Amino acid sequence: LSDDLTRAESQITRHPDYPEPGVVFRDITPLLADGTSLRAVTDAMYRPFAGGFDIVAGVEARGFLLAGTIASLAGTGVLPIRKAGKLPDPAASIEYTLEYGSARIEAPGVLFPGARVLVVDDILATGGTLAASQQLVRELGGELVGTTVILELDGLGGRETVGDHVHSVFTAALS
Ligand code: PRP
Ligand code: MG
Repeated sequence: LSDDLTRAESQITRHPDYPEPGVVFRDITPLLADGTSLRAVTDAMYRPFAGGFDIVAGVEARGFLLAGTIASLAGTGVLPIRKAGKLPDPAASIEYTLEYGSARIEAPGVLFPGARVLVVDDILATGGTLAASQQLVRELGGELVGTTVILELDGLGGRETVGDHVHSVFTAALS
């Protein structure tokens, strides 16, 4: 890892027993607040896919920050994947299970047929959020070209759930 990435990794903080006992919350906000770190991490997230995607899909809420930044670096547009109930006319809607709870995500019908989509989020934990996002992209008629995250947590089966072409900048043990 470059010095910038090593420093960025150290800016992801751990918060045991949040939001509930037994869960270790990873907070990326110190990393996001540092311009050098944000640039280094978002650059590392999309490099393996550079030139191969037409639009970046980010999952509400933390994925939005990364999707916008990566799209700006790559010169593409963004597809916001919303939590349910925020869109007047969603083109696709999927329910999924979270590490803590369940949720539904939806997306607008703005992809051109066959648009090559890079799906981004902050953390891969169980993979529920990203697997649902991938399914959503397919239902929208997009071609999923890759999935990329800042941090992959080992031990929850996330990589198996999300499948091939997943890139993570950092990996950490669950606890
Ligand atoms: C968190 C995180 C990922 C997801 C990872 O989002 O930002 O999107 O959980 O977990 P998974 O791999 O088990 O699905 P969350 O829905 O908590 O909310 P936020 O992004 O709106 O803060
Ligand atoms: Mg999230």
